[in-house]
Amino acid sequence: MKPVEVTEELEAYMVGLLPKRDKVLARMEDEAHREGIPIVDAHEGALLRMLVHLAGAKRILELGTATGYSGIWLLHGSEGGMLTTFEVDGKRAARARANFAEAGLGKQALVLEQDAVGGLEKLQGRFDACFIDLLNSFPSEDVTRSVVELCIERLDAGALLMADNALRQGEVVKPKNQQARNVAFYNELIAKHPRLESVVIPVRDGLSVARIKD
Ligand SMILES: C[S@@+](CC[C@H](N)C(=O)[O-])C[C@H]1O[C@@H](n2cnc3c(N)ncnc32)[C@H](O)[C@@H]1O
Repeated sequence: MKPVEVTEELEAYMVGLLPKRDKVLARMEDEAHREGIPIVDAHEGALLRMLVHLAGAKRILELGTATGYSGIWLLHGSEGGMLTTFEVDGKRAARARANFAEAGLGKQALVLEQDAVGGLEKLQGRFDACFIDLLNSFPSEDVTRSVVELCIERLDAGALLMADNALRQGEVVKPKNQQARNVAFYNELIAKHPRLESVVIPVRDGLSVARIKD
């Protein structure tokens, strides 16, 4: 059977099946739409929440906070867990802190206003799940590789390593620019990594989901 083509109509249908978002998430969706803030959508957010829940993840790491939308979904899945999230843009980091507080998650979210690549090297602690949402902004394949290794070093067996934009609007099949090459490189690295088992889920722009083997 041919895979179904996810048209905008079908996507809206699936989003319509999700529970209604609360006031904070709904406002953040409106703001992101108005201001062009590149956040995950509700469908992918609900998937992140479910994956975190199924993995029983409590200690979550995120690279690329924006205003905290995906972070709120991740924390909803963790049931009392803790999120450490990197955002280099000071205004977005401040908005994320305010949004986490308004969602009643202020004490569960540590927003680190710094470059994730440099910050990861100094970051202490172990994590049960990591969500990379800045694949598109890595400058080179070498940086992509070192971020992957730094994340894996901080994840325990059974933990999840997830990344957004794994399909890059389909460009990964025949990458024509450095950003697309980096994402294709990430996918290859994850698929062949001896410590990982992985799959790419074609939700929105593609969610790569890998599990650290026991
Ligand atoms: C795609 S957005 C994140 C969206 C967010 N995860 C969500 O779905 O709600 C990527 C964010 O990463 C930030 N960013 C880009 N490069 C970064 C870096 N090297 N370190 C930290 N943050 C970075 C950008 O400022 C942007 O806000």
